[in-house]
Amino acid sequence: MILITLALGLTVAGLLYLSMIWNFSYWRNRRVPGPKPKIFTGNYPNLYTMKRNMIYDLNDIYKEYKNKYDAVGIFSGRVPQLLVVSPELAHHVFVTNFKNFHENALSRLTDEKTDFLISNNPFSLNDDKWKQRRADISPGLTSVRIKSVYPVTNKVCQQMSEWLKNQIRLGSPEGINAKDLTLRFTSEMVTDCVLGLSSESFSEKPTPVMAHVKDLLNPHWSFMVLFALVNTFPSLSHLIKLRFIPRHVEEFFTGLMGTAVRSRKAQLATGDFHRADFLDYLMQLGEKRNLDTRHLLAHTMVFLLDGLETVAGVISHMLLSLGRNEVVQERLREEILAHMKDGHIPFEKLNDLPYLDACLNESIRLFPPGFMTSKLCTEPIELPNKDGPKFTVEKGTVLVIPHYCHMMDEEYFPDPFAYNPDRFMDPDAAKKFRESGVFMAFGDGPRMCLGMRFATAQVKACIVELISKFNVKVNSKTRKDNLFDPALIVAHLSGGVWLDIEARQ
Ligand code: HEM
Ligand SMILES: *[C@@H]1O[C@H](CO)[C@@H](O)[C@H](O)[C@H]1NC(C)=O
Ligand SMILES: *[C@@H]1O[C@H](CO)[C@@H](O)[C@H](O)[C@H]1NC(C)=O
Repeated sequence: MILITLALGLTVAGLLYLSMIWNFSYWRNRRVPGPKPKIFTGNYPNLYTMKRNMIYDLNDIYKEYKNKYDAVGIFSGRVPQLLVVSPELAHHVFVTNFKNFHENALSRLTDEKTDFLISNNPFSLNDDKWKQRRADISPGLTSVRIKSVYPVTNKVCQQMSEWLKNQIRLGSPEGINAKDLTLRFTSEMVTDCVLGLSSESFSEKPTPVMAHVKDLLNPHWSFMVLFALVNTFPSLSHLIKLRFIPRHVEEFFTGLMGTAVRSRKAQLATGDFHRADFLDYLMQLGEKRNLDTRHLLAHTMVFLLDGLETVAGVISHMLLSLGRNEVVQERLREEILAHMKDGHIPFEKLNDLPYLDACLNESIRLFPPGFMTSKLCTEPIELPNKDGPKFTVEKGTVLVIPHYCHMMDEEYFPDPFAYNPDRFMDPDAAKKFRESGVFMAFGDGPRMCLGMRFATAQVKACIVELISKFNVKVNSKTRKDNLFDPALIVAHLSGGVWLDIEARQ
């Protein structure tokens, strides 16, 4: 009996071992160069230990291969992936050859039954459904709609300043936690601008919105286990679908959406309220399409899912960059103060302050919310590979585009670790960087970020408010280098950003 068990055990272990290394010849057979993979982790040594952010491991590979090849064959666990080394090829993937790479790798991981909200996000939709959803959402995010909520934006900015002054009065040796400040800001912005409700984020007792927003971002351990399983055996993704958003969070927001719609209807019935905002647009869309609250919520959640953490992170790191660079901060303040009218910048002017724009882009270059993008090959294509032979990318292959490596390469950005907004001050700079594939803060091509204008308006309004009213310095609790948190997918400075903020007279 023992012998049989032992034999069975050994066979299973042997099969597992074989299945783990089976595909390691994949790239060699196609004559695509690449580093030697290790069993279980492939070329991501920190895949499971999360001791170091995986972007650094990719950057090591990038540096080794970038002068000789356009693309490198790597493995995530046992699964082959193509690491796009040349920025030119990155541009092709996003723009020129979009038809060969038009899906995001995430889309395979979930479905409507398992995670209604994520699977209904344009980011994870494909083909006709994607086209339709993009067409549905875009008219809600035009400049006109963003302008109509600009007074709300300014009101939230003022609440933030009041709250901040109070925090300063209370005083803490650690200073202000930038992440806490900016998540309050984005939560309040999104609930008020999008739903017409308040989350009371800047009060003593915030509504449960804040807490649920935080839950949105903390995956459960069982999720991580399933994720690892599907990552190792992608064919399981036909059987196992992942729920990214916990059920209780989905239920909470469905309830909130119901409240928002009811209270807006009541306001409209009294006839003295009109705001051409996002909710207004969504309700019109809902009527035209006969959508129920759940579907309306799926549309609305685009703002929450895509807009909270990203925008908050961008503001935090921009405050960090400005805090570390007094000269830049002072120059930005001068530009802002020169255009202030009645305590804020007129909406049209907000997008017409070159230095503010340059400071924002340069901050995103150093701290990009997404280090990398994973795209799926949807139609086979033959690619050249510089010093190596041509090869064919098969349908279903995951392509990893490591934007961070391009943005930190001194060949494209001399002295890459320096915060130097002047890189973006040449009027053609942004276009040149984007078209050469080295800097695409909001993506590029047909799938480019839908919320770019809404996001930049929020970031800029927040920065204008803070820089005009406060001096920002970095608290000594903040680390001096730019090391990223090892575990987070959305880039964050390890240990957090802590600021010493003082009111200006
Ligand atoms: C500073 C904040 C933000 C950054 C840096 C950012 C960046 C990006 C990037 C890099 C992509 C992928 C683009 C591509 O694959 O070509 C993307 C997609 C997307 N973003 Fe954003 N985003 C931000 C905020 C927002 C906000 C506030 C919203 C919603 C209101 C939003 C909605 C979307 C949507 C719906 C997509 C998917 C588009 C598609 O696949 O068709 N984003 N974003
Ligand atoms: C793994 O290897 C098998 C057999 O060599 C091959 O048929 C299959 O396409 C490979 N799968 C992937 C995802 O590379
Ligand atoms: C900053 O980046 C955005 C998005 O890529 C671009 O539209 C804008 O022109 C850039 N601004 C500057 C000053 O580079």
